[in-house]
Amino acid sequence: MFSKGIILFFLVILIYDITQISSKLEFTNVKCNSKDKKFFEFEYCYIKSVNRSYKYISLKTRFYSLPINEATASLQILRRFRSFMPITMNVTVDICKFKTGKKSILNPMLELFDDVSKKYTNLNHSCPYDHDLVIEKLPTDYLNRHFTDVLPLPPGEYVFNSIWFHKGIERATIRIYSTIS
Ligand SMILES: *[C@@H]1O[C@H](CO)[C@@H](O)[C@H](O)[C@H]1NC(C)=O
Ligand SMILES: *[C@@H]1O[C@H](CO)[C@@H](O)[C@H](O)[C@H]1NC(C)=O
Ligand SMILES: *[C@@H]1O[C@H](CO)[C@@H](O)[C@H](O)[C@H]1NC(C)=O
Repeated sequence: MFSKGIILFFLVILIYDITQISSKLEFTNVKCNSKDKKFFEFEYCYIKSVNRSYKYISLKTRFYSLPINEATASLQILRRFRSFMPITMNVTVDICKFKTGKKSILNPMLELFDDVSKKYTNLNHSCPYDHDLVIEKLPTDYLNRHFTDVLPLPPGEYVFNSIWFHKGIERATIRIYSTIS
């Protein structure tokens, strides 16, 4: 049987978890950087604050060479200590193979990525892409909910880092900065 000490221990963990989940995640900045301006540039890339409860991310690319038949992205979450250090594994996503919504036991980051693609981007089909990439009004609230669901994180400064590759060459980085208080 559990001793009182063990029950207390679990209670403390439970309360700790609840506080974690109700902690506040705030998106502070998004930075898009094209590494090859002959290949493509960002037309826009910003966070807009509509009011206290509604903030969204929008971005659009301008490709100079279409269609795209092959693309991958590597995703990673970093946390600021003295500098930003990775706190999750670096996962690679095949951008071209759009998933059809079948749930599998995926990496939570991949799952979030799939969800976002489906709901807020025009990458909702498989390659080839013969159009620019648009992320349209992705509510930070939505990321917030899913982020803290899949990854309860302690207070701090974080960056959601993505590196985009085309034909094995790094073409862009998209970084979303946030704080958890
Ligand atoms: C914030 O703006 C959104 C979109 O315009 C609106 O639906 C929502 O009611 C607003 N919330 C507050 C608290 O004003
Ligand atoms: C993540 O993986 C990609 C592809 O293997 C690599 O290019 C990139 O440098 C890695 N990022 C980090 C932060 O290790
Ligand atoms: C993909 O997104 C576009 C733009 O939002 C929409 O018009 C289209 O119906 C979507 N296609 C699929 C297969 O969901």
